[in-house]
Amino acid sequence: METREVLKHLKKHEAVSGSELADTYGVSRNAVWKHVEALRDRGFEIESTPDGYTLESVPEYGGLPVLYHLESSCFVDDVIYHAEVGSTNAVAEELARDGAGEGIVVLAEHQSGGKGRRGRRWESPGGGIWMSVLLRPHIPPRKASIITLAGSVAVARALERLGLEPQIKWPNDVTINGRKLCGILVEMQADAESIDYAVVGIGVNANTKPDIDVPVTSVSNELGREINRASLTASILTGLDELLDSDRVMELWRERSSTLGREVRVETPNDVVSGEAVGVDSSGALRIHTENGERLVAAGDCKHLR
Ligand code: BTN
Repeated sequence: METREVLKHLKKHEAVSGSELADTYGVSRNAVWKHVEALRDRGFEIESTPDGYTLESVPEYGGLPVLYHLESSCFVDDVIYHAEVGSTNAVAEELARDGAGEGIVVLAEHQSGGKGRRGRRWESPGGGIWMSVLLRPHIPPRKASIITLAGSVAVARALERLGLEPQIKWPNDVTINGRKLCGILVEMQADAESIDYAVVGIGVNANTKPDIDVPVTSVSNELGREINRASLTASILTGLDELLDSDRVMELWRERSSTLGREVRVETPNDVVSGEAVGVDSSGALRIHTENGERLVAAGDCKHLR
């Protein structure tokens, strides 16, 4: 029996009998009590009543709190939480190289070396959601960008469930009124035919306080109240689970795109492409109408001009 199994039985304000749990798992009541104590140590408020244990409150963030909010059918196998870490992507990649299976999530309160796209640094103060999801997708590497797009759609839809109206700026920034509140960095190990692993790194400015002089915002800033990060994390993961099996990712991405139809200037690793963004192809590359005909841009920094 594991602590998370006890947690799965504890739904808020419903008494769970220690002896029934002990019988179900074939362990002693003392063993159940030890798991309850472990949960209390991690900040769960659990009362002992004559009818059994009752869960009074769940911590706002952490590995077990995220598991509490997830349906057991979700692909997430475990959530490994760090109060402080260099980069959750780096930790997840190390786990992948050591043979960890799909569905491991690495979550942090604070990253000291958060990685952004194109080798940039990603500020990761306390209050955010910094997580990396390990996938072992059975798709050809040329279709891998669908994973990135699924990440941004999953975040956008989770924010919509909170009443916000986010948009997605190509390739995968989630924004509100042009201010960024989430970035996604997918790191992969693949050969020509198959993907060994993909680590989907998702950084959400959840309860952070953004500087007013940069085009960045946070969920709490937009809602005017702090949110429960464990619940939002679970909502994103549930959405990702759904999307990874769906053929509607591109359509859902297009519906939320703030880039399509705009005049853009994209700095690619080799040059700068300017024109009207007219579409994305099946690999997620941006189609741009330029003065010299159409260009397909696979990666780069995109600025909306008009
Ligand atoms: C971007 O530049 O927009 C992508 C930012 C991705 C940040 C996330 S935070 C969790 C994960 N760990 C990292 O080091 N980076 C990603």
